[in-house]
Amino acid sequence: MKILIVDDDRAIAESLAEALAGRGVECTTVNDGRRALEQLASGHFDIALLDLVMPEKNGIEVLAEAKQFGCAAEFVVITGFGSIETAIEAMKQGASDYLTKPVNLEELRLIVRRVAENSGIKKENARLRKLVLPEEPLRGMIGVSPKIQKIRETILQIAPRRVTVLIEGESGTGKEIVADGIARLSGRQDKPFLRKNCGAISQGILESELFGHEKGSFTGAVAQKKGIFEAAHGGTLFLDEIGEMPVESQVRLLRVLETGEFTRVGGVTPITADVRIIAATNKDLKQQIDQGLFREDLYYRLNVVKITLPPLRERREDIPFLAQHFLNVLNAENKTEFRAFDPDVLALLTVRNWPGNIRELRNTIERILLFAQNEIIRFADLPDDLTQEEICKGAADEYGTMAEIEKRIIERTLRQTENNARKTSRILNIPLRTLYRKLKNYNLN
Ligand SMILES: Nc1ncnc2c1ncn2[C@@H]1O[C@H](COP(=O)(O)OP(=O)(O)OP(=O)(O)O)[C@@H](O)[C@H]1O
Ligand SMILES: [Mg+2]
Repeated sequence: MKILIVDDDRAIAESLAEALAGRGVECTTVNDGRRALEQLASGHFDIALLDLVMPEKNGIEVLAEAKQFGCAAEFVVITGFGSIETAIEAMKQGASDYLTKPVNLEELRLIVRRVAENSGIKKENARLRKLVLPEEPLRGMIGVSPKIQKIRETILQIAPRRVTVLIEGESGTGKEIVADGIARLSGRQDKPFLRKNCGAISQGILESELFGHEKGSFTGAVAQKKGIFEAAHGGTLFLDEIGEMPVESQVRLLRVLETGEFTRVGGVTPITADVRIIAATNKDLKQQIDQGLFREDLYYRLNVVKITLPPLRERREDIPFLAQHFLNVLNAENKTEFRAFDPDVLALLTVRNWPGNIRELRNTIERILLFAQNEIIRFADLPDDLTQEEICKGAADEYGTMAEIEKRIIERTLRQTENNARKTSRILNIPLRTLYRKLKNYNLN
């Protein structure tokens, strides 16, 4: 912790420094207001101890000026005995606390410790708020896991640069949401943000759509047409499924990225477009390169910044937050008023493997809400296939004789369905009659 001590009486300044020094505290002393402001402007200090009565610039003036330039240090002012009014004035100006002269050193240490703790709490609160409520344009990108936090940071950092970004990640991991966030933070947000899916489309059509064509350049080209590159001028172009782009088109794209110029299909005039490229793929491009399906030179040209979205199963801690988020979103869409998921339900959602990632989670929650009866969603309200999956998985960890395992599974299912026999029989896929017989055999009621 760094403390600045400001007192025109050198002896007092030194004695205060001496009293505070040690155990991680570093003190600097200055003896007039102007020097104090110079030091504070460096932004190094956590706390400033400020004598109010000084020749030239007095303490109140120093405090006011420091606050004006946004100094984040906490101020503790020192007033002469009997001049409490000036202390109050200083508190109004934003001082955190005050001491009276002659300074009691015990009291000094106590106040400094308290002020330091409070400022630590303030900083911690600001940090937590940032974590829970990410910066405005990234608000919709939910997640507290270190991986998603890192991705949000990367987006904030690279968005304003013109660099090409490659986004990798399995289907449904949020590649589009990332591309959208980058575009909105790019400084190009008022210019077009266009998206082109490069998969499942023939080379000819793709190139004509990307670069446009001249009249008569192929059968059906009845008029000149501008391509997406021209339309996106000044803005951002999101090339989705880049891994599926035909190899011949990859050559053309590479040339555009290198020269900033292209020609329309069937045209000769070079056209320049200022377009920021974001590409996404759910394929492993390295593997595509090995198989001759993706050009290595284009890969390196695109891969200036790479953002890899982890699958949901590698950031399970985000699942409860995402679940609540989708519950809120779906409430708004459907004018429903579900409040939350029971811990049992969140536990089930958290252990699933989610091969379809966040998209699958959203769809599943939509399905759960369709069947839900109460504002708190309970395990017993879940669709049978979801709960059945859970029971089967549970069974794999069971030990004992067949009869013991069966008894335990029936008991647990009854507990989870809140003793609803009909539902239990459905989940376990046995006739109700059989269930009753087993209940009797195992002495369950
Ligand atoms: N971090 C997140 N917070 C909230 N919602 C998210 C998050 N990431 C993704 N989603 C949502 O999940 C769904 C799938 O995301 P998105 O379409 O971006 O996936 P994708 O990686 O582009 O998938 P694909 O490869 O299949 O195109 C969308 O509804 C999106 O809004
Ligand atoms: Mg997508």
